[in-house]
Amino acid sequence: MAGRLEGRVAIITGGGHGIGRAYALRLAHEGASVVVAEIDERAALAVAQELQSAGHQAIGLRTDVSDKNSVERMAQAALARFGRIDVLVNNAAIFATVPMSRAPFDEITVDEWDRMMGVNLKGTWLASCAVIPVMRSQGYGKIINISSGTALKGSPSRIHYVSSKAAILGFTKTLANEVGRDNICVNCVAPGSTLSEENPDDGIVKMRTAATATRALKRVQTPEDLTGAIVFFASADSDFITGQTLVVDGGSCLH
Ligand SMILES: NC(=O)c1ccc[n+]([C@@H]2O[C@H](COP(=O)([O-])OP(=O)(O)OC[C@H]3O[C@@H](n4cnc5c(N)ncnc54)[C@H](O)[C@@H]3O)[C@@H](O)[C@H]2O)c1
Repeated sequence: MAGRLEGRVAIITGGGHGIGRAYALRLAHEGASVVVAEIDERAALAVAQELQSAGHQAIGLRTDVSDKNSVERMAQAALARFGRIDVLVNNAAIFATVPMSRAPFDEITVDEWDRMMGVNLKGTWLASCAVIPVMRSQGYGKIINISSGTALKGSPSRIHYVSSKAAILGFTKTLANEVGRDNICVNCVAPGSTLSEENPDDGIVKMRTAATATRALKRVQTPEDLTGAIVFFASADSDFITGQTLVVDGGSCLH
């Protein structure tokens, strides 16, 4: 059976680790050619190699989403290798692999606040700007932004991260309005607390397990729980859906 993304080309920022890696694997499994655009070049190349070994089309590129030149090179390389760009998953963020402090609001440094916004928010904007001219020329495109359940529920710490993810909600709605005439859909997925760390210590496992108590579905969330929503927003099944945010958290934030 043909995959739902046969012939499509998908860029996943931050696709070298964690949930982004799961997106890359699943989109490739659905038939997409995949560009793993990731600040950790070794991880980008490793995921691309893993996909190639499984018979998929993939490349890995060192990309810093907070750098305009870097994301423009990303789009050019994707176009040069695969001839089109259908899907952009704006997944890269300062989160676990590039860690953040989980500090109270008045203990976060100005430098960390700026880096958080530079990657999570400005990076989403810059990567979108880099691919939209290509999507416009095709008359088709799917941009999927990644927010967080914390943006809808609030959180008792890391206000810089939560603020960056809340901004993604407004960014999604505004960009959807601006590029709808080009037949480009812009949607958003808001994951719940997900066990995405590669070698989680006991403290991390305890934190991810504690989230179970807040959910209708009583289990730990894994990266694979999120991939179906990404395939939906990347595929023709969502061609008349734009500006929406889908919460994927096992029924913790019921909005
Ligand atoms: N794990 C969770 O509980 C959870 C919950 C809600 C939302 N999210 C979101 O899901 C996404 C994936 O998170 P994750 O849990 O896999 O964490 P992660 O830290 O493993 O993934 C983020 C990826 O982005 C990459 N990255 C960081 N800075 C970059 C930059 N400047 N340019 C390019 N790549 C960069 C990292 O190397 C990493 O591969 C993030 O957007 C995160 O905010 C995660």
